[in-house]
Amino acid sequence: MKKLVVSTGAGISKESGVSTFRDADGLWENYPVMDVASADGFRRNPALIHQFYNERRHQLQTVKPNAAHLGLVELEKYFDTYIITQNVDDLHERAGSKNILHLHGELMKIRSLRDESRVYTLTPPNLDTSVDTRDKYGDPVRPHIVFFQEAVPNIEPAIELVEQADVFVVIGTSLVVYPAAGLMHYVRSGVPVYYIDPKPSPVPSFVNVIAEPATKGVARLIEILTKDK
Ligand code: APR
Repeated sequence: MKKLVVSTGAGISKESGVSTFRDADGLWENYPVMDVASADGFRRNPALIHQFYNERRHQLQTVKPNAAHLGLVELEKYFDTYIITQNVDDLHERAGSKNILHLHGELMKIRSLRDESRVYTLTPPNLDTSVDTRDKYGDPVRPHIVFFQEAVPNIEPAIELVEQADVFVVIGTSLVVYPAAGLMHYVRSGVPVYYIDPKPSPVPSFVNVIAEPATKGVARLIEILTKDK
């Protein structure tokens, strides 16, 4: 089967009720991003960051995948489908997508501050951590999230996926945060690129823009990609 690679941002989870970052009423309007999502912020005030991610974990339990997440699972019938996501929510997993690569970490995971290879998955009702939380080795922990000012370890495998794509789709991202925003430039020439966003950011002319919310845009994409199947 042909390889479909999809890069998603906060916009795909908007219709599930998860706020984006830079829309009006977005997360960064209500929290100073450098206090709650940066390496300096964590050094300065780890308790605030533990609390910020605890709140987002609890909120995540109240929402579910929407038709856009499910539409991408539908496309697995026609394509060898890979999801690269900037999102830290688990909505692609809960929708049933098989191949998911998180670029900015995962909200439901924490890791040891002493050995970053020790990653733990939190399960309800135990969703909260604090500066006093200790793992089974007696070490403090942190959210398994890529903070601003930190490297994006999964960008290399993400680029490799885009270089192998037969179709590349970008959904619900403002394309302002690199390296994720640069992925579309790694497609082989002639590979079709689609961008689904109701208020699309400027993109090169080779990109096919579908200026719709994710749920409608993915339905349209399925029509386009399966018309001769
Ligand atoms: N369907 C699809 N897209 C939508 C919808 C919707 N219903 N509603 C809004 N959008 C679009 C917006 O137009 C915008 O282009 O989603 C995008 C959200 O952009 P951001 O809030 O900047 O989110 P994102 O691009 O994912 O942010 C990238 O920034 O703060 C960091 O690490 C964080 O992963 C995040 C990264």
